[in-house]
Amino acid sequence: MENINEKIIKIQKDALNEIKSSKDSKNLEDIRINYLGKKGELTSLLKMLGSLTKEERPVIGGRVNKLREEIEDALNSALIRLKKAETDKKFESEKVDLTLMGRIHKYGHRHPLQAIFDEVEEIFLGMGFSIAEGPEIESEYYNFEALNMPASHPARDSQDTLYFNKELLLRTHTSPVQIRTMEKMAPGPVRVICPGRVFRRDTIDATHSPQFHQIEGLVVDKDVKFSDLIGALEVFIKKMFGEDRKIRLRPGFFPFTEPSAEVDVSCIICGGTGCPACKHNGWLEILGSGTVHPNVLKAGGYDTEIFTGYAFGMGVERIAMLKYGIPDIRLFFENDIRFLHQFR
Ligand code: DAH
Repeated sequence: MENINEKIIKIQKDALNEIKSSKDSKNLEDIRINYLGKKGELTSLLKMLGSLTKEERPVIGGRVNKLREEIEDALNSALIRLKKAETDKKFESEKVDLTLMGRIHKYGHRHPLQAIFDEVEEIFLGMGFSIAEGPEIESEYYNFEALNMPASHPARDSQDTLYFNKELLLRTHTSPVQIRTMEKMAPGPVRVICPGRVFRRDTIDATHSPQFHQIEGLVVDKDVKFSDLIGALEVFIKKMFGEDRKIRLRPGFFPFTEPSAEVDVSCIICGGTGCPACKHNGWLEILGSGTVHPNVLKAGGYDTEIFTGYAFGMGVERIAMLKYGIPDIRLFFENDIRFLHQFR
C-alpha cells in the first residue's frame, strides 16, 4: 500500500512536469500514451490493485482515477496552449509584407496594324465620317459587278481572286462595302470609311500577302466635288504623317471611279529630297481615289442627276510599313513578339 501511494505521487509529479515542459503537440501525445495508454503507467497501477485488501482497493482506485482526471486536464490545457503557439508561429512565418513592391504585370498592347486602323478611324471620325463594315466572304456581284467590273472586264484579272464557287469569293478589296452602304443609306447622304481584311491569291514575298487590310472611304451627297476629295485627303495626310506633308495627285485608273487619281504623299522619311524609301523621287504612293462612277452610284440606288460622290482606298500594311519603316509585310502576321513589342 505504501509502495503504491509513493508510486502515485511520483507518477503525478513526473507527468505534470513533463506536460508542463512539453514543446509541441506531438510530444504531448507521446506523454498521453505513456501515462494513460493501454500499456501506460496508470494501467499498470490499476493492475496492482489486485494485491491490495478489500478496504484498500476503493481508496487507491479512487486516487488513481483522480490522478487520471488530473493528467487529462493538464494534457487538455497544454494542448490548447501548444496548438495556439503552433498556429501563431505558422501565421508569423506566412506573414505578408504589405510594404513590399508588387509584381509588375506585363501588359499587352495593340498590334501595329490595329494602331493604324485606330489612328485612321479617329481622324475620319473627327471629320464627320462614320464606320461601315461588310462581309469577308462576298458575292461576285458586290465585289465586281456592282463596282462597274462586269464579267468581261479586264480589271478583274488584276485582282487574283479566291473563289468558293461561281458566286462566292473572298473579297479582294473593301470597295464592295461602298455598294452595301449605299443600298442601306439611299437616297440619304453617305460619309463612311470601311476598314477590313481582304484576300488575294498572291505569292508571298516582302510586299505581298494573300491576306491584308484596307480602309475604304465613300462620300455621296448632292454637290460633292473633286475638290472636296482633295481637301479631305489633305487633312487626313497631314494628321496622319505630319503637318509639313504635301500631297500629289496623278491620273490613275479604277473602274469604280471616273476620273481616278493615285495619291502620293511627300516622303515621310526624307521630306521630299529623295532617299531609298521613296526610291529617290521624293514621293510615296499612298492610296487610290476618284469621283464615284455613275454606274456605281446607280448600283447603290442613287439618282446620278442629283448625287455625286468621291471614294478612296488605302492599304493598311503599306501605311504601317511606310510610317514605321518596316521592310517586310510578313512581319505583321508572324506573331513574333520581338517584332510586336517594338510598337508598345
Ligand atoms: N479597291 C482598290 C484596290 O483594291 C482601291 C481603291 C482605289 C478604292 C480607288 C477606291 C478608289 O475606293 O476610289 O486596289
